[in-house]
Amino acid sequence: MTTIQIEQTTQPKQKPAVEQLGFGKHFTDHMCIVDYTEGQGWHDARIIPYQPLTLDPSAMVFHYGQTVFEGMKAYKTAAGDITLFRPERNFARLNASNARLCIPAMDEALALQALKELVKLDESWIPTAENTSLYIRPFIIATEPYLGVSPSKNYQFIIIMSPVGSYYAEGINPVKILVEKQYVRAVAGGTGEAKTGGNYASSLKAQELASQQGYAQTLWLDGRENEYIEEVGSMNIFFKINGTVITPALNGSILPGITRDSMIQVLQHKGIPVEERRISITEIIEAHQNGTLEESFGTGTAAVISPIGELKFGDHQYVINNGQIGEVSQLLYDTLTGIQYGKIDDPFGWRVIV
Ligand code: COI
Repeated sequence: MTTIQIEQTTQPKQKPAVEQLGFGKHFTDHMCIVDYTEGQGWHDARIIPYQPLTLDPSAMVFHYGQTVFEGMKAYKTAAGDITLFRPERNFARLNASNARLCIPAMDEALALQALKELVKLDESWIPTAENTSLYIRPFIIATEPYLGVSPSKNYQFIIIMSPVGSYYAEGINPVKILVEKQYVRAVAGGTGEAKTGGNYASSLKAQELASQQGYAQTLWLDGRENEYIEEVGSMNIFFKINGTVITPALNGSILPGITRDSMIQVLQHKGIPVEERRISITEIIEAHQNGTLEESFGTGTAAVISPIGELKFGDHQYVINNGQIGEVSQLLYDTLTGIQYGKIDDPFGWRVIV
């Protein structure tokens, strides 16, 4: 165990009312910072009052986007426990993203220890209303003041936290998704499977065009043939066709979602056929046309399980399951949130009590 210095705020903030929560708009009283200096490694882990950062304008993160992030949540159970969901997987994925972005590996045990201490300190910020949680955003930025294009010598690992409601305004109700034809999110060999800001910055244009047409998000196709399904802006995607649940196989350009992995395991556990494979937009449209496209849903930490009620591709709108939440989506939602909020048994051992 590393010693983490704690400086408590003397001016706790007013907490937002549940109807004001939204997603990622309010931040708790404290944050965690760990510095990295070349030659010294990660050091000076501390929890301090939430505050602005002071960085040199030449800090490399501002110029070349050398940064990675994670998304996780803390939940309050009816018994009053604080739970996390597979947090060790997030820190393992953070290090996979670090490796791709030439950022030194973070000490995963230290990251988890710091997170638990921060969550305990700001426990009163975990909302308890239905469908609310404390969203946790660990991230790393390159802080060396230098304009040459090379890996930074210094970094900061930071954790901030935000009480949240649903990511989508629709909540658990089905969202409408636009299949993107012009822009691509990632290509083989690029940074698609890393959780890095640039992937999201490059998605904004298509996202803006989709929302102008009334769509919640874009569905990305592969960057080479513009034909194979990859993922949605903030979630992985699943389709149920003729009784089998299918999700695109991880191929280097798709984000390896922890909710995605968990839902595949839940489906297997419940005996529902599930396949990870390449799946084309043509196959989806054909399945819609012949009546075998039964359900679609997205999975993610922020999005939880989000049913998809309509896909638009070109000039055509394909309504799925009459725009209603499907049986499998509901089952996965109930199982996932049941485990997270401690309402049901956790045969997988995913729940971590803080
Ligand atoms: C998450 O689900 O935690 C994510 O990181 C998606 C985010 C871009 C909102």
